[in-house]
Parts: sequence; structure tokens; C-alpha cells
Amino acid sequence: MRMSFIALLASACTVACTNDTAEPGAGAVSAPAHTTVDPHSYAQPELFRVQHARLELEVDFKARTLSGLAALRVARVDPKARELVLDTRDLSIREAQLVDGDELVPLEFRLDARDPILGSALRIALPEKLPAREAGEPFTVHILYETRPEASGLQWLPPELTAGKRHPFMFTQSQAVHARSWIPLQDTPQVRMTFDARIGTPPGLTAVMGAARRKVVRDDHAGNLWAFEMRQPIPSYLMALAVGELEFRPIGARTGVYAEPSVVEAAQREFADTESMLVASEKLYGPYRWERYDLLILPPSFPFGGMENPRLSFITPTVIAGDKSLTALIAHELAHSWSGNLVTNASWNDMWLNEGFTVYLERQIVETVYGKRRRDMEDVLGLQSLREDFASLENRDELLTPDLKGRDPDDAFSEVPYEKGYLFLRWLESQVGSEKFAAFLRGYFDAFSFRSVDTSQFLAYFREKLPASDPQLFADARLAAWLSNPGLPADAVLPASNALQLVDAQREAWQAGKRRAADLETAQWSTHEWLHFVDNLPKQLTAAQMAELDRAFHLTDAGNARIAHSWLRVAIRNRYEPALPRLEAYLTGIGRRILIKPLYEDLMATDWGKEFARRVYAKARTGYHPMAVATLDPIVKPKSGTGL
Ligand code: BES
Ligand code: ZN
Repeated sequence: MRMSFIALLASACTVACTNDTAEPGAGAVSAPAHTTVDPHSYAQPELFRVQHARLELEVDFKARTLSGLAALRVARVDPKARELVLDTRDLSIREAQLVDGDELVPLEFRLDARDPILGSALRIALPEKLPAREAGEPFTVHILYETRPEASGLQWLPPELTAGKRHPFMFTQSQAVHARSWIPLQDTPQVRMTFDARIGTPPGLTAVMGAARRKVVRDDHAGNLWAFEMRQPIPSYLMALAVGELEFRPIGARTGVYAEPSVVEAAQREFADTESMLVASEKLYGPYRWERYDLLILPPSFPFGGMENPRLSFITPTVIAGDKSLTALIAHELAHSWSGNLVTNASWNDMWLNEGFTVYLERQIVETVYGKRRRDMEDVLGLQSLREDFASLENRDELLTPDLKGRDPDDAFSEVPYEKGYLFLRWLESQVGSEKFAAFLRGYFDAFSFRSVDTSQFLAYFREKLPASDPQLFADARLAAWLSNPGLPADAVLPASNALQLVDAQREAWQAGKRRAADLETAQWSTHEWLHFVDNLPKQLTAAQMAELDRAFHLTDAGNARIAHSWLRVAIRNRYEPALPRLEAYLTGIGRRILIKPLYEDLMATDWGKEFARRVYAKARTGYHPMAVATLDPIVKPKSGTGL
């Protein structure tokens, strides 16, 4: 049941009562469970808490499996607890064993029936007396297991789908609830653990993880063995591994990029500002706690723009535009090193605490590195995306604190936690003043570092640190307007951009027939101006108008993946046939969900486009990530009998 907003506030504990001290480092125990129940995990952190994982996994590209051992060091929080419950999805569990000195004692275990969203609880029976020298000391459980080829958090790419086309590639995507499809663990953001890992790969391939690489243990014709260590405790959704033909290039003292050989230099140039972003972030939010910040450029099937895996953000190659115009994505993933990875949402119901804060930080970093003009444009483009989502979302999905119990967090994905969360923080900032808000933010990251937090705790902390002079200012009703009402409150502080107003003027002159497209003043336009121009074209254009725009600006051939995406939507809306070959190439070449989902939706909304969408999807589907397939299958409903 959804907690009412008032109940949410009433249940708020002060910071002091919900957090004990947790320092990063091997063996650190994260804060004890608070009142938030994670609806997306079977784990019971109030009974047991996993503190550390040791992984020994062999990567088998032929079988498309990871197989081996997860050794979990676990603390028994409740002395009466006898059953350790872990999250799994589609794992084959071979054995569970208790480590007793040099001995491995077999344990009885049971896998529950599979829930389509949550997977199967793995229940391991434990003896009353555990082999610990002292009461309360952690014990170690070994789980021998294997993943399945269809694991939802893994993508196995044949060589043809990589840039180099010579070697296969595999990568993980654990957020939101997919870590359990490749490691048996407590898959909830309320539990943090350290880990170390040994990963065996075929010869010629490199393994990277969101962790420090300690050494290459073996590198010969039989294969490679890589060793990793993560000393800062992290939640399970940040567990990350990728294997492929990879090279590394440095960017700055603490930053660099991994990519396939043919991509690595372009990536190094495109993301040359990463070190300055890191320096800017530390000035704003306090020390960077993860030592290094590297990027991994994935093949184009990567289903997201980026994923903030600690020390190593995973990045789509579609942001390599040649002009650094899409690097806000790097600012975003880097910002998660504070909002998300350091201070973590307690459950996916509180996702705005990760994503809204991160957009707030991202925009500040962009302003510091690229200036206010660019920041304003990105603010306005963000608001437009939010408004577009509002037009199609159900009310329950427009809330900042939705109740996702019984729902797949992937299905509830939208701009709401991002852009509405961001505007809520901007509103709070406008009420207290930017200086006070900046100091507050920094204090928040320190106070909750290496912990998880829910919305009520955040509000309690906010009210404690920034007590309002006017009691009406942060009255429950005003906060509820942000948190538990759909849409935006009337007093939201909305962004504006002079640069984009000039773009509007140009577009209007063209629409009114006062200027030809070729005569518009577009020479100085950046990607952001182009996006604003194309996204705001009238809904219906004539074939002659489409052809005129394309002749003047070569939009069908745009090399920038986001501009191409915006233009292809206009093309579909107006059935502009000359763009269809590009549309097909785009849909078969890119697997980034937010760039392809709207195109399929637009196609399916037309009579003529349905056939086109189904045909292209049938061809592209095997190259898409399982998460993209899960999103697209219901949209591009296969005709019965095609065996899609
Ligand atoms: N953490 C997200 C990606 C994510 C969200 C994965 C939900 C799984 C479930 C990442 O930080 C992100 O927000 N990426 C955005 C880019 C950003 C600039 C808005 C993306 O992938 O588009
Ligand atoms: Zn994010």
C-alpha cells in the first residue's frame, strides 16, 4: 500500500537515530536497516547482512555463461535468524557451503518459484551455532553457481556487433534489479558490501570491473585471469563487469578511458574534459572518495546513455559526437559518485534522490566547465523532455515518490525522478538561497556518506539543517505538492534560455514564410540549438517543407545521434520517405533505449509504420540488450506466427 505523504513525514527519523558510523574500507558494515521496506528484494537485511563478496568467475563466450563461486561474508544481525535469503534470477545453484576453518560444510538450500519481476528467493538453512570465534562475528557462505544465457543483466555480443568485429564482448547492467541475474546476493540498495574478484577470460580479451584492478594473474594462450578489489562498500546495483578487446588511454591524473582499439582515441578526445569535471565536482561537493574515475565505452547496443558504476562509468558510444556537445552525460555519471554511489536511495521508490540530485549536480558541473549559456540550454531541453513525458504518463507515474511495489522498476522509468526531482531541488534552493543550499548539499553528502537514505530522512535532515524562518515555507502541504502530486506545482522555478529564444525566432520566421530555411542564421548553432529547433517544429509539415529543411541542413545525415533521433521522429510523423533508410540503419545500429523506444512508438502509431517497425525490429532484436527487448516487445507486438 502507498504510504500517504503525511505518514511518510511522520515516519521520519532524525539522522541520529537511523545511522551509526560506517567507514569505508574492507569489512565496513553499512547503516542498519531503517524503516523503508524495499519492495524489490527478498533479502531481509534486518536478519543478515552481506558485508563482503569474493567472486571467482569464468567467462564462457561459447556457452554464454559466468560460472564459479560467490563467497559471501555475512553478519547475523538477529541471533535467532536461521535462514539466509538471497536474491537470484535465472541462476543455476550447484551447492551452498558453510566455511568452517579449512572445512566446507554442505548447507541445505531451496530456490523459490520464479517471480517475473523479483526472480527467485534462494533460501539457505544455517545451523544455530555458526563457526565464529566470538558471538556476532561474520561467517562465510560459499555458493557455487552458473548464470543462464538469457540472464537479464548480461549482454553477450558476437564479434559482428562490436567496433573491431574480431572478438566477442560481454557486459553487465545491474541497475535496477539485475545484479541478481549474475550474482546471488542481497540485491537491495540498503545493503553495501566490499568485494574482490578473480575473473577468467579467453585469451586476447581484457576484463574490467567497477573496482581497482590489482593484477593480471595469468595471461597466456589458455586465457587470462584478472584480479580486482573494491575497498569502498557499494550497493549491489553498482556491481559491474565487462570483457572485450579493450585498450586504455589516460585523460588526466585520475581519469582515463577504456574502449575498443578503433574507438579509444576518439573517446579520449571527446571526453578530454573529464579531469576538469572531477576537479570542479570536488570543489562543490567535497573529496572524491573512489580514487580513480575512468570511462568504459561500450558497443552501441548498450541500453543506456551511461551507468555510474563506481570508478568506471559505462558509457554509450552514441555520445561521441566529435564536438563534446553531449558530454553532460559524463558530468551526470561522475556526479553519481556523490549522489547515488556515496549517498544511495533506500529503494527504487526514492529514485529521485539518486537521479534528481544527480541532474542538479550535473548542471552545476556543466555550468562550471562550459558556462551558463550551455547550462541554461540544457535546463530548458530537460524541462521540455519532462513535459513530453507528462503528456503520456499516468498520474501515479508523475509522483516523485511513487509506490513501485508489484511493478518492474524498469517499466516505471521516465524523466520524472530526473527533471522533476531537479526542479524540486531548484525550488528548495530558491527558498533558502544558493549559498546556504550549497553548504547544505555538501553537509548532506558527508552526513550520509556510504549510507542509504529515503525521502522522509532527507526531508528530516533538510528541516533540521535549514529551519524555515516562515513555518509556512516548508509546510507539509507545500512539500506534498512536489512529492505526492502529479505534474509541477504552480510555483516551480522554470528555466529559460536566451539562446533558445533566438532559435524560436528563426523557426517562426521560417514557418511564417518570411525566410527560406537556407537563409536562417544557424551558422553558430550548437547541438542544443539544433535539438531545440527540430524538437519544436510544427507537428505537420508538407513534403516540400521536409525536403527544404533536409536540403538546407542535411538532417537525415546528421552524425549526431541525438539530432538524428529528433529529426527521425519528425520524419516518421510526416511520413518523409527519404529518411527511411537512415531510420532503418539507426534502429539496427543503436540499442540505447531512450533513442530507439520513441521511434518504435511513433512508427507503431501510424498505419504505414507498423509494418516497417515490425520488419526492422525482427532484424534488430537479436542485437538488443535483454532490457531493451523487455521494453520493446510489448510496443512492437509481433504478429502471431512470425516466431519473433
Ligand atoms: N543510473 C542511470 C541509468 C539507469 C537508470 C539504469 C535506471 C537502470 C535503471 C544513469 O545514471 C542515467 O541516468 N543515465 C541517463 C543519462 C543521463 C544524462 C540522464 C541515460 O542513460 O540516458
Ligand atoms: Zn543517473
